[in-house]
Amino acid sequence: MKILGIESSCDETAASIIQGNNQDIKVLSNIVSSQIEIHKKYGGVVPEIAAREHVLNILPVIDNALTDANISKKNMSKEIDAIAVTIGPGLVTSLLTGIETAKTISYVKNIPIIGINHIEGHIYANFIENTDIKFPAVIMTVSGGHTMLVLMKNHLEYELLGETRDDAAGEAFDKSAKLLELSYPGGPIISKYANTFKQSGKKSDLNLPRPMIHDKNFEFSFSGLKTAVLYKVRNDKNWKNRIPEYCYEIQQAIIDVLVFKTIKASKKFSVKTVMLAGGVSANTELRTQLETAVKKEISSAKFIKPKMKYTTDNAAMIASAGYFHALKNDFHMWQNIKVDCNSEIG
Ligand code: KG4
Ligand code: ZN
Repeated sequence: MKILGIESSCDETAASIIQGNNQDIKVLSNIVSSQIEIHKKYGGVVPEIAAREHVLNILPVIDNALTDANISKKNMSKEIDAIAVTIGPGLVTSLLTGIETAKTISYVKNIPIIGINHIEGHIYANFIENTDIKFPAVIMTVSGGHTMLVLMKNHLEYELLGETRDDAAGEAFDKSAKLLELSYPGGPIISKYANTFKQSGKKSDLNLPRPMIHDKNFEFSFSGLKTAVLYKVRNDKNWKNRIPEYCYEIQQAIIDVLVFKTIKASKKFSVKTVMLAGGVSANTELRTQLETAVKKEISSAKFIKPKMKYTTDNAAMIASAGYFHALKNDFHMWQNIKVDCNSEIG
């Protein structure tokens, strides 16, 4: 079965063709047109600009995805079994472009369509070229807009264990970077400086808080961390000379909370798999530290992480989720596919 995935929820216009066979997913093409360079000068995503860029990029991106997968537009109806498109959460005006394009192709080419939740897409990035994932699984889903600890009992069956009460983990990286006058997005640059500090072998005495780490629930809160960084910087005349140390401590504070709660949930639910998902899962220190903790503390569970190219927004992950919905005949009428900013997984 071949699926065309389309993603346009934030600042990446993406299209991908995947082939699924007995739950084994191969990526035939994966095109991502990123707007990061455009939004960088504003220090974050400007929704109006993002929307306009999606309109310009969506058709060339889909064309390239078809070409890379050796599928001609003429043969689309025969070759593609379903279109999977992100319906939310995300920016309304960005989502609209992907959705309306997907609906048009579905109508004109008579190809079934499936609406996909963006977070579910991130989770299904783990299932690309990986047939060895056992349930139950706990997934730490960390992106620019979401921080969710999810228990996955089977394919497409989820229980939300906890989420952030305020800022997402990615937002904590992005906003802290802004306070330190670093560029957008904050995650990659904070991670780079944090590495420099780690390699220096020095110890940090910044002592930032690890919000809610010892609370009994699986909830998160990262806005206090950002405020703590703000006050530290305000009271530190030398902060500009200590950027790597600030980055190291910010990253470690976020990782400590994420790892502690993921391990706690994994033990509580005796899971067989622990996974990472979302843009922040590109963070190498988080990948390594969670893997080490799983190996040390839960010998019966396996740690799985998405391949680097499928961590941040892409359409292969949307097509991957679409494939598992298609196996359940979970198709929609194109007329019923609409933007759903409050879309929930499951
Ligand atoms: O999943 P994603 O591409 O978009 C959303 O769905 O939000 O995630 C983007 C987020 C941004 O906050 C970005 O700073 C963060 O992922 N990110 C990282 C890294 N790469 C991207 N955070 C930490 N370390 C990274 N290497
Ligand atoms: Zn995302």
